[in-house]
Amino acid sequence: MTTTLTLRRPDDWHLHLRDGAMLRAVLPETARHFGRAIIMPNLVPPVVTAAQAMAYRERICAALPEGTGFTPLMTLYLTEDTNPEDVAAAHASGLVHAVKLYPAGATTNSASGVSNFDNVRATLERMAGIGLPLCVHGEVTDSDIDIFDREAVFIDRVLDPIRRATPGLRVVMEHITTSDAVEYARAQGDDLGATITTHHLVINRNHILAGGIRPHYYCLPVAKREQHRQALVTAATSGSARFFLGTDSAPHTDANKLLPCGCAGCFTATNTLSILAQVFEEQNALEHLERFTSLNGPGFYRLPANTDTITLEKSAPDYPDHIETDDGPVTVFDPGFALTWKVL
Ligand code: DOR
Ligand code: ZN
Repeated sequence: MTTTLTLRRPDDWHLHLRDGAMLRAVLPETARHFGRAIIMPNLVPPVVTAAQAMAYRERICAALPEGTGFTPLMTLYLTEDTNPEDVAAAHASGLVHAVKLYPAGATTNSASGVSNFDNVRATLERMAGIGLPLCVHGEVTDSDIDIFDREAVFIDRVLDPIRRATPGLRVVMEHITTSDAVEYARAQGDDLGATITTHHLVINRNHILAGGIRPHYYCLPVAKREQHRQALVTAATSGSARFFLGTDSAPHTDANKLLPCGCAGCFTATNTLSILAQVFEEQNALEHLERFTSLNGPGFYRLPANTDTITLEKSAPDYPDHIETDDGPVTVFDPGFALTWKVL
């Protein structure tokens, strides 16, 4: 039986760090294990200009525990007023590694997102020209589309038309949740990547809704049927370069989760690697874990893989069930089974 696992240091290709007290509390949870992360720009107000991304990067670096080598990879929030030249300059300077598309109203702090795609065409064309990836929150927002169908409908009605209209645009389908998204991603060329979260590999919609409602499992896109979870596990553990880890670890205080209208997001930064090792082990796919956590993402983003390593051993990890912040506690994602891999 395998009892230790050494991997190139992982990166997280989709992470919410927030700001202020929350940033200070959650950043060490990621920096402990990960080398780099793509930092989501959905602050209030959102990170829309290069100057804002630069200032946010400085706040993150100032909040890093002493001696950590973690590197934040910044993104810009795409709005209908985004200036293509600002985006291109931010990319050329090495500051910005992706632009994030939120359909207006799709999720937390997405009000400034895109409603009319004609108004972002010039930016998308500029991005295609310079190879700057577009990270896409792939859900339609139409109230008449069932929430469980919003990802599949988005692929047909929005994503595929944008890609056809913008040849060369490099796209990351973020936090995919359906077999439809897996099949679409598999059928495309290497200008398309897809991130998969930790939580979508272990929960389906029953975990949220059967036997009582579990707000800590509510996130967007919402977890789907078991057959979709299985398609995600097959994709993640396949070793295919198309799929890589983006945790979408999204901290909200318990006070903001446990409300009549609670916030969407699962906080998985603390125990992601223990959970993933177990998921891959159960699939007899431990030899593909490093591709998913540490190699496929840098390959897509055209960055070198990390050169240092982390080691996991076969023993129960110990971590708190919540993280204290000056705004109140944040509950750590509960995978619902006992974990057996610990990061040393
Ligand atoms: O569950 C989610 N939480 N999905 C998102 O798209 C946003 C995120 C957040 O920022 O809380
Ligand atoms: Zn997210």
